[in-house]
Amino acid sequence: MPRPIKKAVFPVGGMGTRFLPATKATPKEMLTVVDKPLIQYAVEEARAAGIEEFIFVTGRGKTAIEDHFDHSAELEALLAERGQTDLEALGMLRLPPGAVAYTRQQEPLGLGHAVWCARHLVGDEPFAVLLADELVLAETPCLAQLVTLYERVGGCVFALADVPREQTQRYGIVDIARDDGQIIEIKGMVEKPRPEQAPSTASIIGRYILQPAVFAELDRKERGIGGEIQLTDSLARLLGAMPFHGLRFTGQRFDCGSKLGFLKATLAYAMKRPELRDELSAYLNDLTRAL
Ligand code: UTP
Repeated sequence: MPRPIKKAVFPVGGMGTRFLPATKATPKEMLTVVDKPLIQYAVEEARAAGIEEFIFVTGRGKTAIEDHFDHSAELEALLAERGQTDLEALGMLRLPPGAVAYTRQQEPLGLGHAVWCARHLVGDEPFAVLLADELVLAETPCLAQLVTLYERVGGCVFALADVPREQTQRYGIVDIARDDGQIIEIKGMVEKPRPEQAPSTASIIGRYILQPAVFAELDRKERGIGGEIQLTDSLARLLGAMPFHGLRFTGQRFDCGSKLGFLKATLAYAMKRPELRDELSAYLNDLTRAL
């Protein structure tokens, strides 16, 4: 049985340039789908997968994220006065004291660099990485699906989704050794390849289970595509040293770092809410008829 996954890293140090001007003063991860910020969805997903320690790699202008996960005595007192004491029923997440840690990425040098910044907090144990701008709507949360596979195969495990070939340049793409339709044995990976050079169309979406050996690779601080320190490049150097698997997870994934993905997520999540579904769906019908 591989070592259990108790820690999750949330890299939230990016600039979110694709979502300007919304992200000028508000962190991308605090953008709200229906009534909950993206980062809270990611933390809830991690908690549902058995994560006990939540490590955020933040950066300039990201303090709203820290505030969001604090207890707010004033707000809670006000709600209590109104008889609202069930905070979870209000969608408020309360993580146990000491379960949340923050470190800062002084410069946004890339996802690999953000993960490397968490090395002291993670220590020598396997860990999960969740990118909050990828939202996965699934009956069994995406990270929990990865953990189930990890418990069987160990090593590194990624969530994979097939993308249209013309979009490979946006993602990390894996080279497939074996594919049973759901579980993929990975023999290579490359960050943002051109469509004609992409080894497949199976892209790594923002959920990973990683081994601490990746920190030694990230330590080299080699710049990859776009001049950024890429996580995919360091992981590629560990191929052969441990098993690498990808899972075509069950669920619907939304790239909330893009405007269209974010809009689709908002609609899909709203349609899951009984108090919104009927009126929203009637409105959407009217809207499409009016076009
Ligand atoms: P993205 O590739 O979406 O970059 O990062 P970004 O800067 O957030 O957004 P765009 O492309 O400019 O619009 C994927 C994830 O990695 C984090 C981001 O916060 C996001 O969760 N990240 C990226 C960091 O934490 N640090 C970085 O240096 C880069």
